[in-house]
Amino acid sequence: MLWLKALHIFFVVAWFVGLFYLPRLFVYHVDVVEQSAHQRFCVMERRLYTMTTIGMIGTWIFGLATLMAAPEIYMKSGWLHAKLLLVVLLSGYHGWLKTRLRAFAEQRNSKSERFYRVMNEVPTVLLLAIIILVVVKPF
Ligand code: HEM
Repeated sequence: MLWLKALHIFFVVAWFVGLFYLPRLFVYHVDVVEQSAHQRFCVMERRLYTMTTIGMIGTWIFGLATLMAAPEIYMKSGWLHAKLLLVVLLSGYHGWLKTRLRAFAEQRNSKSERFYRVMNEVPTVLLLAIIILVVVKPF
């Protein structure tokens, strides 16, 4: 159980590296006009997205494995249900990043630098809320 939890947290960290840094790359990518620089950004974004997806899959696998080690306790915990709801939102945000990555690759991004700066805060807020739920367990 503790091994599963340790691996769970390892993949959470790997997932968040990309959730934090991909939108930041988009912020810098918005104003790029030179083709070679544009191509370099596309490669960085694609590779980072792959690593981020591995982080997400590992988080789900080891999170669910931790849950299945003691389902009778966890399934009765309100904080875990709230956490899972936020993790589903986070996974949706991950999918949205993929749609933006495609838009940049096809040179049809229409969003501003400011838009990506604001969206960059979404994983921060969700991370804080999830950490409070798992550590404080308020309900
Ligand atoms: C993907 C679905 C997820 C599932 C099914 C899941 C499930 C779990 C379970 C059952 C525990 C053990 C809780 C305990 O014994 O106190 C746990 C621990 C933890 N989870 Fe998740 N989790 C998921 C995603 C996440 C995410 C996205 C984060 C961070 C944003 C996260 C952060 C943590 C942390 C920090 C702990 C350690 C808490 C502690 O031991 O005090 N989890 N998770």
